[in-house]
Amino acid sequence: MKNRFIPYFGNKRKEFDNIDKQLPHSFDVFVDVFGGSGSVSINVKDKYNCNVFYNDTNQKLIRLINIFRNADDNLIKNIEEFNYNLIYKHKNIEEGKKYLDNLYNSLKHDDMKFIMKCFFSKLQLYLIQNIKIWQLPFNKKGFYNSPSKIYFDDYINTYSKIDEITNKDYKEVLEKYKNDENTVLYLDPPYLTKKITYGSSFNQKDIDYIIDFMKNCNCKILINPNFDEYYNNKIDDRIFLKEVYNKKYESRNKDNHCIITNY
Ligand SMILES: C[S@@+](CC[C@H](N)C(=O)[O-])C[C@H]1O[C@@H](n2cnc3c(N)ncnc32)[C@H](O)[C@@H]1O
Repeated sequence: MKNRFIPYFGNKRKEFDNIDKQLPHSFDVFVDVFGGSGSVSINVKDKYNCNVFYNDTNQKLIRLINIFRNADDNLIKNIEEFNYNLIYKHKNIEEGKKYLDNLYNSLKHDDMKFIMKCFFSKLQLYLIQNIKIWQLPFNKKGFYNSPSKIYFDDYINTYSKIDEITNKDYKEVLEKYKNDENTVLYLDPPYLTKKITYGSSFNQKDIDYIIDFMKNCNCKILINPNFDEYYNNKIDDRIFLKEVYNKKYESRNKDNHCIITNY
């Protein structure tokens, strides 16, 4: 079955090859500390079949992932009905919006209401902010656009692969694995320069904290941020800049990402 990830800002779905090349030669446990869509966790699980632990502070995201992992027959039936009701032809955008509002109000299952807000709120903003403006899953001719469908079976399959899900601040996670030599911690924190903060106060002090931790722990750490001067100035004989790469698949995006490790 195909892996399908929750649509999410800043996901590293297309960058797994760059990340994979820089993973340590051997490890028993992989911890995705700023997990987001979980794309890196799932790709690591598929390739290495080691223990994979996912963490993120975003409570809505954790709720959504846990809904997929614990789905019962009743919810599965609700999703099937929902997907069926979405296939509808609209004359115009206003009618489309009204249709989605009515569909939302008619839902009885709380988890189903929550799923709809996550998937159809404009650009998935509901997941990181409290916004509910429908992102219309219809094309200009008014026909249903299949990418917005909820591929429930795929999501259940994908997210069930993760061994453990936690909802902690990154510092707590780092502390837990500090002395584990066979554990690799993958860090993809919010970018300092971006407007999307994921509701987090992550700032330069956090980067200082992480770099200092990298120099003093026994576990292996790989951090995968936007390449900028602040990170570049941190490179010394204990912290290695392994790779700088461009997100070529996004033609408008000029940002470089980089991989920094303590091994
Ligand atoms: C750039 S995204 C990660 C994207 C992810 N690698 C993917 O492939 O989807 C950063 C994530 O860090 C989470 N986050 C922000 N502050 C955090 C903190 N203090 N501790 C743990 N997670 C945090 C955000 O909720 C967000 O999901």
